[in-house]
Amino acid sequence: MNLLHLPVLLNETIDYLITDPNGIYVDCTLGGGGHLQELLNRLELNARVIAIDKDIDILNKTKQTINNDRVIFIHDDFRNLSKILLKLRLPQVDGIIVDLGVSSFQLDDATRGFSFHEDAVLDMRMNREEAFSAKELVNFYEKEEIADILWKYGEEKYARRIAAAIVKCRKEKTINTTLELVDIIKNAVPASYRRDKHPARKTFQAIRIAVNGELAALEEVLPAAVASLQTGGRLCIITFHSLEDRIVKHFFVNEAKDCICPPGLPVCICNYQPQLKLEFRKPIIPSDEECQNNLRARSAKLRVATKL
Ligand SMILES: C[S@@+](CC[C@H](N)C(=O)[O-])C[C@H]1O[C@@H](n2cnc3c(N)ncnc32)[C@H](O)[C@@H]1O
Repeated sequence: MNLLHLPVLLNETIDYLITDPNGIYVDCTLGGGGHLQELLNRLELNARVIAIDKDIDILNKTKQTINNDRVIFIHDDFRNLSKILLKLRLPQVDGIIVDLGVSSFQLDDATRGFSFHEDAVLDMRMNREEAFSAKELVNFYEKEEIADILWKYGEEKYARRIAAAIVKCRKEKTINTTLELVDIIKNAVPASYRRDKHPARKTFQAIRIAVNGELAALEEVLPAAVASLQTGGRLCIITFHSLEDRIVKHFFVNEAKDCICPPGLPVCICNYQPQLKLEFRKPIIPSDEECQNNLRARSAKLRVATKL
């Protein structure tokens, strides 16, 4: 197992995140703790960080490496952010970071079933306490449901062909492993599609997003995060594909509007108060140098907003 996860857009994110070096911060996606470690390096001794991850294996591993009494480690889904903070009696915090997707720990651990390069049981659950895994999705969902997931979450242009091939194969034998699924995908798509990028890339991404309810969790955490921030506090979100970025962008733009009157009214009558100020309109993307050192960074986008 490769124990190295290089944090993406590290300095840019932490520069924006810290508004009070003695404040309280939330890292919603602890992972290997790269962002958390940098945050701790820059915060004063009486600052506090709540570090959340729904993957208990990663949480325990990172807890051992970042053994720091300024951190409270929580095994939970970040969609429960409001409940987590309420339980800790911390209704308001100074900054929140969400660095979406999977970590290299999960991708490189062959037993987790996230990688289309490694043979493993079809799993892909970030939280292994949940019952629903990739194996259930692939073996029990209707053909149309599978095709919709591949199209919606993977933007896979051969979604229907791949879904049909999955359903045909599972009639003969249960699909158990990642490489069985990779073979089905390879045989379902045209040869030309196999030459450029890995033909299973988009299908695996789509199944992972569906298994972990990733977009729904993002939609839930955004309003909860805004409600939990003090005035002047920052929300920093790093996304890795257009579906995630679109959700964050629309949410930020809506919350930063100062008028929601129907178009065409001569004067504003809504008296609407924006909740957020956007720190910049276009997202920050990693430098060429960062992308060369860390392939995962290539699709990353950072958006930052300040609570008004
Ligand atoms: C990209 S990694 C974070 C990497 C981390 N920032 C670092 O520097 O090492 C994303 C992490 O968030 C976790 N995660 C993803 N969705 C989550 C959710 N809804 N709730 C809690 N944790 C989640 C994953 O298990 C993974 O460990």
